[in-house]
Amino acid sequence: MEVTRARAWQTLTTYTKSESLLRHALAVEASVGGYARRFGEDEDFWRATALLHDFDYEIHPTLDKHPQDGAPILREEGYPEELVEGVLSHAEHLAMPRDTLLKKTLFACDELSGFVHACGLVRPDGIETLEPRSVLKKLKQPSFAAGVHRDEVYRGADELGLPLDEHIANVIEFMRPVAAQLGLRTG
Ligand SMILES: [Fe+2]
Ligand SMILES: [Fe+2]
Repeated sequence: MEVTRARAWQTLTTYTKSESLLRHALAVEASVGGYARRFGEDEDFWRATALLHDFDYEIHPTLDKHPQDGAPILREEGYPEELVEGVLSHAEHLAMPRDTLLKKTLFACDELSGFVHACGLVRPDGIETLEPRSVLKKLKQPSFAAGVHRDEVYRGADELGLPLDEHIANVIEFMRPVAAQLGLRTG
C-alpha cells in the first residue's frame, strides 16, 4: 500500500472518536511534519506515522496493551513495518531502540506537543505569541499539565540533538498553522 496522510487519517478516525485524542494526534502530526520538511524527509510518511502513534489508545487505554496490541491491526491494514516500528518506538515501556530520525523526532514531539498545547489553552491568544522561555518556566512547575512527563520532554530534545529552547520554538512554529483545529484561540 501507499502510505498517505489521508489513509492514516482514515485509520485513525476508525478507531478514535475522542476529540482530545484526535487533537493530540493533529498536534504531534504538525510537529513531526514540520521537522520532516525541515530535514528534507518523506513528509507524508512522517505525518502518517505521527497521526497513528496513539491510534489504538481509545481501544487500548492501558500500557499492557498500548501500543503493542495496535501493531497487528496496522499490519493487517497493510502499513509497512517501518511505520509500525515507528509507532511502537514511542512507547518507553517497550524499550525499543530509537535508531532512526523519524523515531527520535516522534518521541521528541509526543509529550512536548501536548505540553505546548496546554500552555496555549491558558493564554488569550493561544500559541500565537507563546515563547520558549514561558514554556520552559511552566515545565518547572510540576502542577501545570501534571500528566506530561518532563523527563521525556528533556530526553526527547536530547536524543534529537537539539537544545530544548530551540526544539520548543520549532514545535510552537509547526503547531501555529493548525491552532484553530487544536481548539486554541488565534489572536
Ligand atoms: Fe502513546
Ligand atoms: Fe502520544
